[in-house]
Amino acid sequence: MTIFNLGSINADQVYRLPHLPGPGETLASTGYKRGLGGKGANMSVAAARAAAHVVHIGSVGPDGQWAVERLMEYGVDTRQLEMVETVTGHAIIAVDDHGENSIILYPGANAEVSETKIETVLAEGTENDLFLFQNETNAQRYAAETASKQGMRIAYAAAPFDANAVKSVLPLLDLLVLNEVEADQLEEAIGQSAEQLPVRDVIVTLGGDGCRWHNTDDGITREFPAIPVDPIDTTGAGDTFTGYLLAGLDRGMPTEQAIQLAIKAAALMVTRLGTADVIPDLKDVQDFAP
Ligand code: RIB
Repeated sequence: MTIFNLGSINADQVYRLPHLPGPGETLASTGYKRGLGGKGANMSVAAARAAAHVVHIGSVGPDGQWAVERLMEYGVDTRQLEMVETVTGHAIIAVDDHGENSIILYPGANAEVSETKIETVLAEGTENDLFLFQNETNAQRYAAETASKQGMRIAYAAAPFDANAVKSVLPLLDLLVLNEVEADQLEEAIGQSAEQLPVRDVIVTLGGDGCRWHNTDDGITREFPAIPVDPIDTTGAGDTFTGYLLAGLDRGMPTEQAIQLAIKAAALMVTRLGTADVIPDLKDVQDFAP
């Protein structure tokens, strides 16, 4: 079984700072790291490190060969990636001493994924496969419709949050992952709480408080506690959660068990500085006993 992931690929420039800069403030960083990131790439790497077969659908520019090679090195199937003329996407990430972040995105090539490519790749998908996407590329609705026609299960991480983007794909979804702030923003935009959404499984992540899973089959909302850790960097923890969750579901795990695995992976991830390059592998996650 395969996870097809339409997702962003970014060069992440990560700056460690004593605090997040305010308006007009100039601040010297105390550390710097450059690496692979992008919510899409992070999710692909997390799922691949959790032993899933992941086909990444996305675009990089002429400067992006290193990112393709790195994804490949991390076990992601990159054969369907497109090379476009526009530069590869990048992110400027500030991380403070409490592990909190703020991110500036330049979408670049991520906004140039072709519908023709999406159609060709997803033509291989079946009802045994999963289609995953988030909000850092173009063509989300088109891709979700195409995957749905193939009978694939559709999973969506509503980040970065955009109420209109969520609204346009909501009827197609089998699984929605969003954080508490995004759930509130969505409720404000459409007047439905996470529990009222017409989506079979909705998972609301709560940061240091774990997550909530609502399943419309039985109408029950279950709570899952987080694993307490001292955070170094929370960037990419949500993406790690989603990638591990999907990999668990793809392997046929019951949802409870896939959520627990994802919580453990995300907890370990926040103890590391960086994004895709430091996403833990399955063995590290299984051995993790804080
Ligand atoms: O979720 C973290 C990611 O958001 C970073 O890797 C950055 O590239 C942005 O896409």
